[in-house]
Amino acid sequence: MYSSSSTSSLKIICIGGGISGLYFAIKAAEFSKLTIYSKDELSESNSYHAKGGIAAPLGDEDSISSHINDTLLAGDGLCNENAVRFMIQNARPCIEDLVTLGTEFNKDKNQQFDLSREGGHSHNRVVHIKDETGKEVINRLIEIVRNHPNITIKEHHFVVDLITENSSVVGASILNTQSQIIENHYADITVLATGGAGNLYSFNTNPPSATGDGYALASRVGATMMNMEFVQFHPTMLYLPNREDNILISEALRGAGAQLKDSKGIQFMYKYHAMGSLAPRDIVSRSMLKEMQREGSDFLYLDATSIGEQKLREEFPFIYYACKKYDIDISKEMIRVVPAAHYICGGVTTDLDAKTSVNNLYAVGEVACTGVHGANRLASNSLLEGIVFASSAANSIKENLEILMQRKNTPSKEYSEKLQSNISKSSVVSKVDIQQLLWNNLGIVRTAIGMKLAEKKLSEWKQNLVEEIKIKGRNRQLYELLNMIETAILITSFALRRTENKGTHFVEESDVFLAD
Ligand code: SIN
Repeated sequence: MYSSSSTSSLKIICIGGGISGLYFAIKAAEFSKLTIYSKDELSESNSYHAKGGIAAPLGDEDSISSHINDTLLAGDGLCNENAVRFMIQNARPCIEDLVTLGTEFNKDKNQQFDLSREGGHSHNRVVHIKDETGKEVINRLIEIVRNHPNITIKEHHFVVDLITENSSVVGASILNTQSQIIENHYADITVLATGGAGNLYSFNTNPPSATGDGYALASRVGATMMNMEFVQFHPTMLYLPNREDNILISEALRGAGAQLKDSKGIQFMYKYHAMGSLAPRDIVSRSMLKEMQREGSDFLYLDATSIGEQKLREEFPFIYYACKKYDIDISKEMIRVVPAAHYICGGVTTDLDAKTSVNNLYAVGEVACTGVHGANRLASNSLLEGIVFASSAANSIKENLEILMQRKNTPSKEYSEKLQSNISKSSVVSKVDIQQLLWNNLGIVRTAIGMKLAEKKLSEWKQNLVEEIKIKGRNRQLYELLNMIETAILITSFALRRTENKGTHFVEESDVFLAD
């Protein structure tokens, strides 16, 4: 099916294997060979765990302008309207392309896409595969890249740093975490597709690998970043007292009729917003926090019993059986839920071609900030953003092949370093320390004092950790901590600079902003 005959000699590396990295690789492999580096197995991405689906205005009653409006409203006035229009206009062709690549989205009885509803959407517009869209789409894309003659996959390869020469990115220093050898890998184009940073927070919906690596890598080479203060909390993660698991209760369940309730079984969301349980996520999460404080409780309830057992089993099998595992029968009893860190709306600033401010460096997916999410992402717009901008990155590289070939990088210094075999943990800071600091001070509701405290603590930790790395070497554990801290510093400094409450950034004592 795929040929390797007419490829350019451009060297491309793609860091990360979520939906945007994989889709970029498939598109770029039409004209170039490339290598995907992934720090774990390819399936260990945020996209793989995405439950809802991909938003696209495909329904009969729906329109591109309605989807644009909903996105702008959710983004609370901070979206880049041009980027939003570009993304939504490209939604249909990208979904159709995923189908051509073999993705089998759910269909209704008329063989049209079965479109579900999520928070902030005024129409049903989420194409999905039951309640495990991410897993199904990613599995299909992984199958394609694994069999593609132009794509090399290097799993268990952790990118330690990007390499720059004359202010351009020319590749990356990459640690093979199995052999513990760091080598420089040079490339003409480097694409960051490293995903998000949910693990900066105690409660989060992300896999453990989401440690903010891409934000830190990009900011270390001076890339322009934006909107980092906007951390989106998903309103409904399953509450488990010992945090045994982070099970996302998809918003699609609310789209199908489930309602948020307090401990007395009373719906409370209409007090806060006309869309009730399906209001934009920032509003739902903040309202839940208020209700939890009022009740003095660590959780609230989602009542899905009205949906009925058969539909729950057939359409929401992941949620149904994941809850069953914890002895919760969601067809008969309410589900305990808690808001959890879910998605970073900001990131490395990119244009419509996914180019960053640094030569030869592109960014796609959650790590990028195209501007489409503004201050609060509309549900299920992220997988859409991932594929649309991955595709435009590949197109832009293809259109500029001649120019890119002329300024091709010639690899400079060979480099190889073997790490010490007795890799020790940090004695400076732990993941839990960072998670607690951010959860308490840069969470759903923030205070100026809390943000200042976090800023001070993070800067101390960073200083000491950098010293520790000089002694112990650039191992993955220490570098993930460094990436977490540097990403946390970005979130904190952007939050401290913002002088008004917008979307997911909400400061309680708005009269004491520390804007200087
Ligand atoms: C969900 O299914 O609720 C998550 C979808 C998203 O975050 O866009």
